[in-house]
Amino acid sequence: MTKAKRQMQEDIRLVDLLIEMLDARVPSSSRNPDINELGKGKYRLVLLNKADLSDERKNRQWTQYFEKQGIQALLLDARTRNQIKDITAAIREICAEKSERDRRRGILNRPVRAMVAGIPNVGKSTLINSFAGRAVTKTGNKPGVTKGKQWIRLNKEVELLDTPGILWPKFDDPMAGERLSMIGSIRDEILNLEEPALSLLDYLRQEYPKALATRYGIDEDGQTVTILSRIAVSRGCFRKGEELDYGKAARLLLDDFRQGKLGRITLEYPETDKTD
Ligand code: G4P
Repeated sequence: MTKAKRQMQEDIRLVDLLIEMLDARVPSSSRNPDINELGKGKYRLVLLNKADLSDERKNRQWTQYFEKQGIQALLLDARTRNQIKDITAAIREICAEKSERDRRRGILNRPVRAMVAGIPNVGKSTLINSFAGRAVTKTGNKPGVTKGKQWIRLNKEVELLDTPGILWPKFDDPMAGERLSMIGSIRDEILNLEEPALSLLDYLRQEYPKALATRYGIDEDGQTVTILSRIAVSRGCFRKGEELDYGKAARLLLDDFRQGKLGRITLEYPETDKTD
């Protein structure tokens, strides 16, 4: 991780604006713990990506949460290109002060430089590809720019670094780790899937009653492990004979959740709004 941090520190020196990409289903857990330190002195924009999968009511709470901290936040589905205009407009607005300062100093036509950063799997490359598809030109090496850096010129005013900054998650927060495994941002091979599946079941029953009943046609009462066994029965997850395959049921549940088949679900509230 020190290598990632060094790279990030190097790249961030080249930009005016840090675009922090978070997963809208877990905006807190997908946030890098050192982001404020890394982004010190930079203009900031937050993108809450995969908002097609997250809860609309909580989406609004999260954008308000960031706005209260003075950081503009946009909801995004990075796979579609129709929000690119909104992002460039937000960048222009956030950096208006810089552009004005440049103009007063007689510096004309110096575009705002931006980079996208976030933890793995949050959608950074998807967004950069969407941008690259729309780019006016791709610019190569330029004097004063580290060799090998490529910039995607979005319009006269904005250039985006074509490689994302890869950030690390909150390793020392077990809850964050568990939620990241629920959304599939940690590779499943290294996980016992039953634990995140059981935690997800607990959360769903509490926050999204009827989501399980609707999807699997099961009764939601009883112990959590009983719910998992009902899902196993309803989906035919058996080992030999009648023995239930909990691992398979856990995978099926997590896959359904990750694909939005249980509905639009957000796993976290902004800290101040838990009771809302
Ligand atoms: P990264 O660079 O931050 O590591 O993430 P990347 O763009 O590779 O995206 C990770 C996965 O998330 C990809 O799926 C991508 O399609 C998906 N994704 C990105 N943005 C969104 C979004 O706004 N909504 C939804 N629902 N999915 C999004 P994948 O399964 O790994 O690849 P693919 O099979 O979709 O190509």
